[in-house]
Amino acid sequence: MGLTIGVDIGGTKVLGGVVDTAGDVLVQTRRDTPAQDPGETADRIIEVIKELAAGHEVQAVGIGAAGWVDATRSVVQFAPNLAWRNEPLRDKIQQASGLPTVVENDGNAAAWAEFRFGAAHDADESMVLYTVGTGIGGGIIIGGRLIRGANGVAAEVGHTMMVPDGHPCGCGRKGCLEQYTSGNALVRFAKADAKARPGAAARLLGLAGGDPDAIVGPAVTEAARLGDEVAVGAFAQVGHWLGVGFADMVQTLDPQVIVVGGGVIDAGDLLLAPARASYREQLAQRGQLPVAEIRAALMGNLAGVVGAADLARM
Ligand code: BGC
Ligand code: NA
Ligand code: ZN
Repeated sequence: MGLTIGVDIGGTKVLGGVVDTAGDVLVQTRRDTPAQDPGETADRIIEVIKELAAGHEVQAVGIGAAGWVDATRSVVQFAPNLAWRNEPLRDKIQQASGLPTVVENDGNAAAWAEFRFGAAHDADESMVLYTVGTGIGGGIIIGGRLIRGANGVAAEVGHTMMVPDGHPCGCGRKGCLEQYTSGNALVRFAKADAKARPGAAARLLGLAGGDPDAIVGPAVTEAARLGDEVAVGAFAQVGHWLGVGFADMVQTLDPQVIVVGGGVIDAGDLLLAPARASYREQLAQRGQLPVAEIRAALMGNLAGVVGAADLARM
């Protein structure tokens, strides 16, 4: 199979691209995600596909969706941060586009891309990806195979419980990892701390026009780079919980490599340094035994597009 289209639907954007068998994106296009309207979201996806298919001869479509996809790769059963409830996405897209379509979870798609073409291309035994974005996504590959689970929802690492009776999550539970390590969590920590200690958040508040409630993710990253104490502290908290998640994953799966992707990884060591530190500290073996290396993702915001397009070939 030659060219395929990958479309990645996250909490904020619909990003699509035409992808070749080497994982290169020939052309890309994007739209905003109309978060609360599945009908409009499908329309945006179809627009993206038609635009891309007009310029290239493509053979199939892979959708990476930020939700719990069923084992037949067709229905988004539930999405903690979007309005999908038993959404028959594959059939809608296939009918409108006339192209064979598969739906994959966005974390799984990104993991596949990092495994095939990115940060874990040398990991022949196993790898786990965490994406830190609006939510927390995950993907597990063992022996060269993407592990989807019996019901399609393996690697929902964002919804493992970190804090008993903790912050409420979009999935219906309380205290999920996603509520302590995602982009949303980063902003929540930064807002709360900026309100409590405005003097330590001068740069961050400056970027938010003086209003703590106007703080957004990219401003936290920018302020942290400038050494803002509250912004650095928000990354330290998010990194801490991420590291706890890694340690739990190692006890469960003992993967060769753990890769960290998603929008928040743009912050690099601001996120990875505290994550690696708490990972080492939290491991039951306390770092006495060999454990998975923690790496930054290499595919950037195109991981989901490339992975979904590649999975559409299978
Ligand atoms: C969802 C996952 C998704 C992740 C990243 C989580 O809240 O449960 O299905 O992969 O967010 O978008
Ligand atoms: Na996943
Ligand atoms: Zn949850």
